[in-house]
Amino acid sequence: MKAIAINGSPRKGWNTEMMLESALKGAVDAGAEVEMVQLYDLQFTGCKSCFACKRKGAEPCKCFLKDDASPLLDKILTANTVFFGTPIYFGEITSQMHALLERLSFILMTYDDYSRKLFQGKVDCGCFYTMNMLHEGYETMYATRMKESFKVLQKLNGTVMDYACCDTLQFNDYSKYQTASFDIKHKYQVRAEQFPKDIEAAYQIGRNLCKKA
Ligand SMILES: Cc1cc2nc3c(=O)[nH]c(=O)nc-3n(C[C@H](O)[C@H](O)[C@H](O)COP(=O)(O)O)c2cc1C
Repeated sequence: MKAIAINGSPRKGWNTEMMLESALKGAVDAGAEVEMVQLYDLQFTGCKSCFACKRKGAEPCKCFLKDDASPLLDKILTANTVFFGTPIYFGEITSQMHALLERLSFILMTYDDYSRKLFQGKVDCGCFYTMNMLHEGYETMYATRMKESFKVLQKLNGTVMDYACCDTLQFNDYSKYQTASFDIKHKYQVRAEQFPKDIEAAYQIGRNLCKKA
């Protein structure tokens, strides 16, 4: 059983990766072989409209662009479980994560019949979003948008779970940055009290998704 995590944050070792690491720990405890992929270490763009995947007789669900995303797309489609992690940037997923999902979306659709499911396998997915926003703000402003951004995962025929990790710590030492609009005491308190619960929730999602697989 194979589980991969894709870190869509440029900051290694920070909130998003910590959530993903915890999901992978859960996956290991459920018996999976795991791998962390750092999206910002890869050289790739969004779809370049080469249409190689739309040629008659082309292998389905395959991207033919020669860059680092194509092997990652193969990896996603052959894994049992994939965890996607992204910080929210200006109300959206990060640009690298968007580029990857654009590539995934195009290889999973055919102009012959938009409603046809090309992918015959099954991949369970967990999506983790991290953000400054409080949880209530996430629900009203971001939740629908996040689901929409990752809706391509429904074409992978598995379970899709998501989790919002809110009010994250952005700096270890807020006194060094221009952060007058933050309640810094509150930020450290959330880190101490809520973040461990978020990490535990990620672990449970990782374990449960892999137990199912
Ligand atoms: C360029 C940029 C834009 C951001 N935009 C938002 C935003 O629109 N809403 C929000 O809640 N947080 C926003 N944030 C905060 C990050 O989403 C948050 O700190 C996140 O947990 C960072 O993840 P990381 O620690 O894994 O890098 C932004 C951060 C950056 C650097």
